[in-house]
Amino acid sequence: MHPVILAIESSCDETSASVIVHGKVLNNVIASQTVHHKYGGVVPELASRAHQQHILDVVNEAMTTSGIIPTSLTAIAFTKGPGLMGSLLVGVSFAKGMALALGVPLIEVNHMEAHVLAHFIDDPKPAFPFLCLTVSGGHTQLVKVNDYLDMEVIGQTHDDAVGEAFDKAAKIMGLPYPGGPLIDQYAKEGNPKVYSFPDTAMQGLNFSFSGIKTAFLYFLRDRLAEDPAFIEKNRNDICASLQLHLITMLMQKLKRAASETGIKQIAIAGGVAANSGLRSVICEAAEKYRWEVFIPDFQYCTDNAAMIAIAAHYKFLQGKFTTLDVAPMANLSIGL
Ligand code: KG4
Ligand code: ZN
Repeated sequence: MHPVILAIESSCDETSASVIVHGKVLNNVIASQTVHHKYGGVVPELASRAHQQHILDVVNEAMTTSGIIPTSLTAIAFTKGPGLMGSLLVGVSFAKGMALALGVPLIEVNHMEAHVLAHFIDDPKPAFPFLCLTVSGGHTQLVKVNDYLDMEVIGQTHDDAVGEAFDKAAKIMGLPYPGGPLIDQYAKEGNPKVYSFPDTAMQGLNFSFSGIKTAFLYFLRDRLAEDPAFIEKNRNDICASLQLHLITMLMQKLKRAASETGIKQIAIAGGVAANSGLRSVICEAAEKYRWEVFIPDFQYCTDNAAMIAIAAHYKFLQGKFTTLDVAPMANLSIGL
């Protein structure tokens, strides 16, 4: 039986579906939820409702544009976790319904492993073992990738994710959610050397971003007390300085992991991998340290079903199917 898989992603605030045939991703349909913008963050109850509203249209579009008829599917894949429980439930239930109706097996996919495996959608592909810095709104992990389905987390955040630090800093500045892409945009016009922030790094390969969030809050509070228009006047420089600080925190650990493991194949994944500053700093490091760097296409950095599809493809090849009594897991770790 050949892998012809429909994959569904619904872990947070993107409803997405993708069809993959023999390892080739045919499409990547994504419905982003805008309902959260005015709340400054994802509201779980609204997210699950929006998934419910979008999932049928998103799956229909993925099936129609793929040219694959449902009876040709040989498996249905879904995100098991980590993510928001109510959001995950929508995707898991929809996938179960389709698998039952078509009489095909289910494949569960770990969202964080899928972010890493997004590197196998297009060329060039990294060779094993490689290091992947996975940076998103919910996670910050350094992963040693030994094989498609053999990964070890060698460092991770002890509190907030770096994407959360971007989003919270943006919120403090009065920018809408998600603020990461906006900080990136303003930073392009700013000078990153104007402001500096305290070094709140953890020891070893682990990260911590809660300290910088608080430091940034106090920094703005003090400046605003002197000049109420401080943010408007200096937005680009503030964004550029904060962005460089966050990138430097990530790069310190990535360099350390590369030197400790001796691995020179370096990848970045997850929503924050879309950050233009991080993309250019990592390319500079590649020249300096003779790394070979892998950066996914923008559409495969933020949450998407194509990465679930490629992960499901490798699970299919290894016969890793899931039974119908599977339940989503909000706190699923890599390797489980
Ligand atoms: O991977 P993702 O779509 O969802 C999670 O699994 O969390 O990542 C979303 C995160 C958000 O925090 C968002 O602000 C951040 O990725 N992000 C960015 C950029 N694009 C998305 N952060 C900085 N610069 C960007 N260009
Ligand atoms: Zn994600």
